[in-house]
Amino acid sequence: MPEVAADASAVPATRGELLLELSGVSKYFGGVRALHEVDLELYRGEVVGLVGDNGAGKSTLVKVISGVEHPDSGEIRVGGEPVRLETPRAAQSAGIHTVYQDLSLCDNLDAVRNVFLGQELTGSLLRGRPLDRHRMEAAARTVLDSLAVRVRSMSTPVGGLSGGQRQGIAIGRALISDPSLVLLDEPTAALGVSQRTEVLELIVRLRSQNRGVLVISHDLKDVQEVADRIVVMRLGSKVAEFARGQYSSGDLVAAITGAHDAPRPSEGDR
Ligand SMILES: Nc1ncnc2c1ncn2[C@@H]1O[C@H](COP(=O)(O)OP(=O)(O)O)[C@@H](O)[C@H]1O
Ligand SMILES: [Mg+2]
Repeated sequence: MPEVAADASAVPATRGELLLELSGVSKYFGGVRALHEVDLELYRGEVVGLVGDNGAGKSTLVKVISGVEHPDSGEIRVGGEPVRLETPRAAQSAGIHTVYQDLSLCDNLDAVRNVFLGQELTGSLLRGRPLDRHRMEAAARTVLDSLAVRVRSMSTPVGGLSGGQRQGIAIGRALISDPSLVLLDEPTAALGVSQRTEVLELIVRLRSQNRGVLVISHDLKDVQEVADRIVVMRLGSKVAEFARGQYSSGDLVAAITGAHDAPRPSEGDR
């Protein structure tokens, strides 16, 4: 696909529905400024990579969007309406689902139970609402199939599955609530090469399901491979945004490290 445009605008020609907007979002932890006046827009059908050094504010940004942390100032809008994402549940109701790095899978439970963890389907009220295993298994199969995640048996404990399969099940869990926006925190960390490829394919499938995807990653190669747009954070601020095909690896690294910043006047020894 020829994608290099002459002007360096980060906006592609056609764009899906605007799902989420952050304007001027700041967050302090005591004296630490974790987020400073961050503006961000996330669209349907787009994979956005979120990169930056340790302490740049990536996790805090994801937590603010997923209702785990609350901004001290600024506005969050979902579908154009200002919202307060007080809890992860509130974020989920707003169509936002987050897959954390630790995946929070229960190794002793099978794929079906893990996909439905905390959102189990119950049977008829008259029958005392036992878990509706049949419906859960069918629905779990549907979401895992939609991601092309293959597990040999839906009813063996997930503890023995590969890293890629486990990531698939964690993403499958996210899809049960049919979110419009999926946030992934370091999905390829600690994976081998073939499993990394598997997970990048999962991300592409989320996009082809017309969801918005925000991926945090330390691995710039992964991000460059999968992201339509890359947002760079440094010291709590959003410092750059690059559309696919409109940056070099060097641009990315320079934005992350601040290598191209003008030296401050007080730094006379430069
Ligand atoms: N719960 C917390 N309490 C105090 N400081 C925090 C907390 N969470 C993050 N921070 C600080 O906020 C800054 C941004 O952290 P974080 O969002 O985790 O960055 P990243 O994910 O990019 O590594 C860092 O200086 C970090 O030490
Ligand atoms: Mg982090």
